[in-house]
Amino acid sequence: MDHFIYRDGVLHAEDVPLTEIAAQVGTPFYVYSAATLLRHFQVFDESLAWGEHLVCFAMKSLSNVAVLKMLGQAGAGIDVVSIGEYLRAKAAGVSGDKIVFSGVAKTREEMKIALEGGIRQFNVESEPELEVLSEVALSLGKVAPITVRVNPDVDAKTHAKIATGKKENKFGIPISRAREVYARAAELKGLDVVGIDVHIGSQLTDLEPFRLAYRKVAELTEVLREDGHNIRRLDLGGGLGIPYTRSNEAPPLPVELGQVIREEVGHLGCEVEIEPGRLIAGNAGQLVSEVIYVKEGEDRRFLILDAAMNDLVRPSMYDAHHDIDPVIEAEPGVEPETYDVVGGICETGDTFAKGRNLPPLKAGDLVSFRSAGAYGAVMASEYNSRPLVPEVLVQGDKFAVIRRRPTYEEMIARDIVPEWL
Ligand code: LLP
Repeated sequence: MDHFIYRDGVLHAEDVPLTEIAAQVGTPFYVYSAATLLRHFQVFDESLAWGEHLVCFAMKSLSNVAVLKMLGQAGAGIDVVSIGEYLRAKAAGVSGDKIVFSGVAKTREEMKIALEGGIRQFNVESEPELEVLSEVALSLGKVAPITVRVNPDVDAKTHAKIATGKKENKFGIPISRAREVYARAAELKGLDVVGIDVHIGSQLTDLEPFRLAYRKVAELTEVLREDGHNIRRLDLGGGLGIPYTRSNEAPPLPVELGQVIREEVGHLGCEVEIEPGRLIAGNAGQLVSEVIYVKEGEDRRFLILDAAMNDLVRPSMYDAHHDIDPVIEAEPGVEPETYDVVGGICETGDTFAKGRNLPPLKAGDLVSFRSAGAYGAVMASEYNSRPLVPEVLVQGDKFAVIRRRPTYEEMIARDIVPEWL
């Protein structure tokens, strides 16, 4: 469920017409609905209400400090994968004991900053990382709380670029080697082993892979406890998929995932963490863009927008589908036209959709990409020297720019011309 709806023929985010934001902010822009973000966080929170838990928002999906602050105030923890993300979470007022640090490439410097600033746990992804983290913690006179991310070799049945739980993926340690890795972790004086971590991929639309992975984690918990480890926390990752179309696509709901978690690991008495990103942010955000030209090709019609693949890369990168809606609703009975929807970047990959049926549109009309709140703004770049687009947060009838559009001068001023030129 989201709060993007037509009222009086105009697409609104909550109570704010997107036309009003466009007039003030210019296009393209990302717009997020606070009510949708909070609602999505709450459904996860409620889905685990049967036990001790923390829902850690995977901020890689949407990392604006205003959004993090709002979710943090609602009680969310945060899953970070770099010290940049850690510092954003801190800037949003989230305390270290609610931040979990994942990722395969943590550096000494990153570990140091997190240990000094406070951290709930590091999700360690390899044996060398264990050794380095222990060393860094000891050098600071600290002990680092850790889980080890295990790779359960489960097929998540999702896009190859976002599956993480197969043995050929770079993530975690093979679950078959977990006992020896935990034995080593227990020897290291700078570490406190608190639990197990698993994450098998993103945009999962079937609960079975989750169930298989969690079952393996439950078995491992018992084995590790027998080995003498005090396993008291399970980080079960993120990955629940969202509907990207209005068809009858209906991925499982958070409450159903919560039930699977309860069935598979509920008996262990562990505190449960999950790290959802996409389901919280995806349908809480849209990218609004203006039609620049309608161009008649030889055998097709192109809808050329002021947004491009640098602003929303998912269609080019993963062949992802995003529904596109006109901001002014079509009159009933209007025959749709078929468009290839493209941006202005100088490569053919800059195509948002091929053969898409939309009401007839002309230059100056606004369109909105649905489901763009997750992995939208965060993956944007300035390719073709197009400044990053602004982000806007709507709450009820008010809205605020939560990241402004840089000026061209600001963008250019980041380059430094050496004096010898
Ligand atoms: N935890 C870990 C360790 C992760 O690697 C991820 C996502 C998540 C949690 C959150 O997963 P979610 O609930 O959002 O599915 N850029 C891609 C998605 C990459 C996902 C990477 N990891 C896309 O646009 O589809």
